[in-house]
Amino acid sequence: MGEVDQAFIQSIEHRANLDTIEIEGIPLIDLSLSHTTDINLLVSEIGNACKNWGFFQVINHGVPLELLEKIKVAAKAFFDQPMEEKRKVKRDEVNPMGYYESEHTKNVRDWKEVFDFLIKDPTFLPASPELEDDEMRTLSNQWPENPPQFREVCQEYAREVEKLGYKLLELIALSLGLPSNRFNGYFEDQLSRMRLNLYPPCPCPELALGVGRHKDAGALTIVAQDDVGGLQVKRKSDGVWVPVKPTPNALVINVGDIIQVWSNEAYESVEHRVVVNSERERFSIPIFFFPSHYVMVKPLEELVNEGNPPKYKPYNFGKFNVARNRSNYKKLEVQNIQI
Ligand code: SIN
Ligand code: FE2
Repeated sequence: MGEVDQAFIQSIEHRANLDTIEIEGIPLIDLSLSHTTDINLLVSEIGNACKNWGFFQVINHGVPLELLEKIKVAAKAFFDQPMEEKRKVKRDEVNPMGYYESEHTKNVRDWKEVFDFLIKDPTFLPASPELEDDEMRTLSNQWPENPPQFREVCQEYAREVEKLGYKLLELIALSLGLPSNRFNGYFEDQLSRMRLNLYPPCPCPELALGVGRHKDAGALTIVAQDDVGGLQVKRKSDGVWVPVKPTPNALVINVGDIIQVWSNEAYESVEHRVVVNSERERFSIPIFFFPSHYVMVKPLEELVNEGNPPKYKPYNFGKFNVARNRSNYKKLEVQNIQI
């Protein structure tokens, strides 16, 4: 193995098959249809994509294309800096926002570097009976001084993608037969976060992964990726890992665990992973839509009945989020990684 540390090595059944195979990809949906009179067509496309794949790509999504370019340039400029510079904003036990060298997915280290921030200014969050004071105190962003304009570009991008997030939540609500604004109230004090990912070239891409197989814990994820490729989705019909083909100007959308719960499993959160390569670094920029900390996540009353009883018990999202941040940090600490 030699070239990569043991901590990165996936067990045999989870390693990537790096042969390029041409198989049916996830749906590509043109959101400009939302300006036409036939919204029903778009709603049914979205509903089918959520049901059959849990993943799709969108074009004509309204996020300015120059901004999509700018955020990729900003991500590269940030990660290109020396390690000492990036570590000035490293996250720690108290603050889960900032820079970190990798994390663990299913106890195997991911081949990546990350910078995370909350898309809403978190200075004031109303008290929640579910949370201890010190649990909310942990939430504040850390911005690096360099590269110049980094913060502005990140925040501008997040604002634009947030609008798209609401639009998609509305289309998803309609596709479930709900009023379009059904989910909006859950996001008033949203804990959504944006992430910049760098996947450096890896000497042993057949042994390691950029991100191991996982499902997203939020409601919805919107990902910008460059032209390198590497994201793979586990196809629901047969469990085959399907590559998400980088498509110019498109964004990748996926349903997270919370929509699975809200919809009482009409839509499922689907496993995905990132494979790496030995030649080119890859950048991706996800925004994870998380509800407010006081939201109790549970199957929506309109979608359950005697024949389809709730499949989940209610849980408080703030509490869940704190526990998750802490356990992610602990995993790094245990493995003795400098973060
Ligand atoms: C992720 O699922 O965490 C990352 C997605 C990507 O890099 O494309
Ligand atoms: Fe993910």
